[in-house]
Amino acid sequence: MQRIVILTGAGISAESGVPTFRGPDGLWEGHRVEDVATPEAFRRDPVLVQRFYDLRREALGRVKPNAAHKALARLDAEWPGELLLVTQNVDDLHERAGSTRMLHMHGQLKSALCPACDGRFRWEAPLSGETRCPACSAPDTLRPDIVWFGEMPYHMDEIDRALLCADLFISIGTSGNVYPAAGFVDLARHAGARCLELNLDPSMTSGRFHESRLGKAGDLVPELVETLLAG
Ligand code: APR
Repeated sequence: MQRIVILTGAGISAESGVPTFRGPDGLWEGHRVEDVATPEAFRRDPVLVQRFYDLRREALGRVKPNAAHKALARLDAEWPGELLLVTQNVDDLHERAGSTRMLHMHGQLKSALCPACDGRFRWEAPLSGETRCPACSAPDTLRPDIVWFGEMPYHMDEIDRALLCADLFISIGTSGNVYPAAGFVDLARHAGARCLELNLDPSMTSGRFHESRLGKAGDLVPELVETLLAG
């Protein structure tokens, strides 16, 4: 039975109404990525950064998983072989659709991190204003549990192990601008996996896949899952 690794990016949540990072104006919800998604930005203006992520977290209540998230959850439930879904997304739409064999490599909006004790906690409330770490009680240390530029993505050992023994690697809705995720195709391909990309537009890494299909994730992913499950 084939071992499958799937990588998803912002494009899979676009049809749910979650904006992608690199829109036509180059801005993420009106901000330059480096003004809200780096440790330097947080040191410089913690109020702006906390508010920015508070708004993103709150917005999750107004969006729902789409056909692509649901199809991947069905694949997770019905695929008898090994499967790992790795998402770069910090939204919770994959788990709300029902995926369980999955990892968030760039952290999650609904999680807080305490740099004083390295604790990570499920967190749904705003992080602006007064907070206290539930583990070490440090006041006002909590920050979004998001992997910012210059920080180490989560679960890399587990992801590398899965890529090295994958038979099929599928990348969905990612522009291929950000490493290490943009290099997964090289690792999987070198290890012998068939590599398939599904994306709205050609990505930075399209040429490194065996096949690239252009279109909306909401159309392409259910089709692919149907084919995979039909054998
Ligand atoms: N279906 C499929 N693909 C789509 C759709 C759609 N409906 N809508 C947009 N896309 C594609 C775009 O063509 C683009 O190539 O999704 C991709 C989104 O790219 P980015 O906005 O760059 O998002 P992503 O690749 O996930 O960004 C990676 O960058 O800012 C950091 O940490 C952040 O995880 C993020 C990382």
